[in-house]
Amino acid sequence: MTPSAPLQEMTFRNLRDYIYDQTGIFVPDSKKYFLENRLSHRILEKKLSSFDEYLRFLRATENGELRNLYDAVTTNETYFFREPLQFDVFTSHILPRVLERNRSRGIKVWSAACSTGEEPYTIAAILKETAPGVQAKVFGSDISGAVLESARNGIYTSYAVRNIPSHYRKKYFRSRGDSFELDEGIRNSVKFLNVNLIDEKQVRAIRDVDVIFCRNVLIYFDDKSKRKAVSLMYDALAPDGFLLVGTSESLHNVTRALKPTVVDKVVIYRKAGS
Ligand SMILES: C[S@@+](CC[C@H](N)C(=O)[O-])C[C@H]1O[C@@H](n2cnc3c(N)ncnc32)[C@H](O)[C@@H]1O
Repeated sequence: MTPSAPLQEMTFRNLRDYIYDQTGIFVPDSKKYFLENRLSHRILEKKLSSFDEYLRFLRATENGELRNLYDAVTTNETYFFREPLQFDVFTSHILPRVLERNRSRGIKVWSAACSTGEEPYTIAAILKETAPGVQAKVFGSDISGAVLESARNGIYTSYAVRNIPSHYRKKYFRSRGDSFELDEGIRNSVKFLNVNLIDEKQVRAIRDVDVIFCRNVLIYFDDKSKRKAVSLMYDALAPDGFLLVGTSESLHNVTRALKPTVVDKVVIYRKAGS
């Protein structure tokens, strides 16, 4: 079933602007079908009759529907050990540099836009294996409450675990029918927060982070919202802190404050020290 009237051009633009203002996500004209499809479900669920009515409903309700909109319009693809070269550079290059500044302080890592948790859990498991005894704080955040709930549950499909090196898989996962349950120690070591990367108040509450992984989310933003999110993350970094974006992404034209370096073919961005 679909709403009784198709998504008109004008309503599409108004919905797109609304989503952009709230999330930084820019939906291009070529993805009108995507919005139509994702929002049809919300319209049916709320027993509304049209996209226009849905937009009015969104604007009228205080945040209640906004959370559902976030769940509906975000793309949450992720898996454990995604883009593994970056994790190699994290352990071989970044970790020693963070620890040499102040070993007793340990390391604080933020997986910004972590979706269902595979990224921060990968980082937590790697730290446990490669830096035992180091105090590690790992947290993940996302704009979507639904993915965070799933992250906290720690139950994964075979798709999510397919790239995990076998010793990690044996040590940290237990088969449960068709699913894989993550080790409780790793699960409890990661904290999850609801953070919208373009919300100043929310991001400014995060401070002194040594390493931010912000991978495969800025690709959905336009340059203006990329600049805003990156500048807020810059402020959240400790002096000498590092930012990693996805391997296909670049911060060229987005920031001059963070300096790119290439290590083993991986680009990492670093904040200057104090
Ligand atoms: C494709 S996933 C990336 C997951 C993981 N970082 C990875 O690379 O595998 C993108 C995530 O960004 C989140 N997202 C989109 N806009 C956001 C925003 N404004 N603030 C925080 N998270 C956002 C989505 O909810 C989604 O879970």
